[in-house]
Amino acid sequence: MRKKVIAGNWKMNMLPNEAIDYIQSFAPMVENAEAEVILCVPYTDLFYALLNTQGTNIKIGAQNMHFEETGAYTGEVSGKMLKVVGVEYVIIGHSERRQMFNETDETVNKKIKTAFENELKPIVCVGETLEEREAGKTVEKITTQTRLALEGLNASQVKNTIIAYEPIWAIGTGKTATSEDANNSIKEIRAEIKKIYGEDIANEVIIQYGGSVKSSNAKELFNTSDIDGGLVGGASLKPEEFSKIVKYNEN
Ligand code: PGA
Repeated sequence: MRKKVIAGNWKMNMLPNEAIDYIQSFAPMVENAEAEVILCVPYTDLFYALLNTQGTNIKIGAQNMHFEETGAYTGEVSGKMLKVVGVEYVIIGHSERRQMFNETDETVNKKIKTAFENELKPIVCVGETLEEREAGKTVEKITTQTRLALEGLNASQVKNTIIAYEPIWAIGTGKTATSEDANNSIKEIRAEIKKIYGEDIANEVIIQYGGSVKSSNAKELFNTSDIDGGLVGGASLKPEEFSKIVKYNEN
């Protein structure tokens, strides 16, 4: 049985004092959660978030990293920098980065490899645009992105990669994929992994859904056969709301 993994993606929100207040009220709300709980916070919150989640079940992730270890890359942060401060997870290839910051399948693949070299667990985002969906290209898009993201990884790395299926038209729009639709897309991603790495690995990979997840739809989404939790943006900004998503079966 795969464990549910529920990650909040704060994006470019939350000042350090807000992050501290959030964690202090959120931690007791989720201390008995069955799901793995992750908060992916801005770089400037990492230190405070790591300090304030010590002794809790909340894991901390970053939202991006560079694929080189050091060098003349003004404004970038390396995998090693994240690792040494105590970060465990890193989002890679979020659609906002692919669309606004020139992230490509190639840089996504390089970043995943660097994440593993630094013992960080990548949360890799894939998903189709509305245009691609309407043209019937969803499966092609998400399986290709998955294949290219995982290229050259060994079996144990693939097993430790979290994939987040995030249809772009559902992100921040209030439009959620139906649980059946999202589950079907995730099955396709799992089938692609099976083709390359075999059934055992494919059955172990955590594949989340993301795109307007909220406490009112989490239960239905996360109780499907293949959706292993969620990557949650807007609804992760309020501790109470996000705690309800983490404890989706108690709603
Ligand atoms: P949303 O964002 O929950 O606000 O739609 C999800 C994401 O971008 O990871």
